Amino acid sequence: METQALTASFTVIPNRHPASDEERWLAMENPVFGKVFTDHMARATWRDGEGWADHRIVALAPLPMHPGAAVLHYAQQAFEGLKAYRHEDGSVWLFRPEANAARLAASCRRMALPEVSEQDFMAALEGLIAADRNWVPGTPGASLYLRPFVFASEPSLLVQPAHEVEFLVTASPVGAYLSAGDTGVPIWVSRGYHRANPGGTGEAKTAGNYAASMLPQQEAKEHGCQQVLFLDAKEDTYVEEFGGMNLVAVRADGSIVTPRLSGTILPGITRDSILTLLRDEGRNVEERDLALTEILEGVESGEIVELFACGTAAVVTPVGRLASEDFDVTVPRVEGESVADAVLARLTDLQYGRAEDPHGWMRKVLDAPEG
Ligand code: PLP
Ligand code: COI
Repeated sequence: METQALTASFTVIPNRHPASDEERWLAMENPVFGKVFTDHMARATWRDGEGWADHRIVALAPLPMHPGAAVLHYAQQAFEGLKAYRHEDGSVWLFRPEANAARLAASCRRMALPEVSEQDFMAALEGLIAADRNWVPGTPGASLYLRPFVFASEPSLLVQPAHEVEFLVTASPVGAYLSAGDTGVPIWVSRGYHRANPGGTGEAKTAGNYAASMLPQQEAKEHGCQQVLFLDAKEDTYVEEFGGMNLVAVRADGSIVTPRLSGTILPGITRDSILTLLRDEGRNVEERDLALTEILEGVESGEIVELFACGTAAVVTPVGRLASEDFDVTVPRVEGESVADAVLARLTDLQYGRAEDPHGWMRKVLDAPEG
């Protein structure tokens, strides 16, 4: 098969058996989040003393893996999540990808993995999106979810940083992650379990944090809730974040409160963008410790009028209920347009190119098709 150099450093070896147009259309109709994958993946390999090499875009395929690969035993891994958006003219854009590149580098440092440079990160995304351009949805609310990840592939049971590491990016057409309906998502506040500890890995985007959230997430489901909300491990008092998104509260006076970046929560790029948009509107935004009791009492008294989850997958999703072993509180829907609705519209309007991008967050990765 013909090999062509597409970007500075990623060589493209096209998939010989890509999905047919019909298979792709079927797969892209209402995909379950993260269950449908495109025809290609980006890949590079790192060896101690040699650095990153073999940058390539290849057919999506299972990875032959030694059973002793360190990631399978010690979870030395880091990952990212970001989306590519198709604009009305057919061009394709990424939202703040350099922020994801910087966060992946920070996560890699925490996990003693080699960093992927911003240049390689961008080249992998651009090469993959170009190879799978037909997989970028054009339907409202849909996008191509990109999953860059780095993991220890060295066969070794020694507990030490691996000498062989892989960087991959997969792509998945996606729609909504959570279904809020008319009432908002029900949330389970975990009392017995914590996601992260001071000095641990909560601030890094790494597999183990999500592994730790599975059992509490299962508990949430058993109580009819869609997501789990964690409290801080030290005092068991302050809300931190959900299993896969950040939390924002809106007060009756229109001001905003959200947990500060304490070192145990993920510094969400959606969170940062939303806080910026809300500050642009002149709202007072506080990033500070936020006690669970302040939220429960605030919802009860009407001092807190909205709670919402935010993240790449969830975008902005209103919370409708907070439950745990000792409380069950409904968050009433706001009359008229909520802050969550308004900020969701502002964010998605700029992501989909329907509104100006005052902060220069969008990066074009594919031009509009000619003609
Ligand atoms: N918190 C956690 C634990 C997450 O997994 C995510 C999703 O990536 C977020 C917050 C939100 O981060 P971002 O907005 O960068 O997607
Ligand atoms: C993302 O939003 O990118 C995440 O990684 C969250 C996960 C729950 C899908």
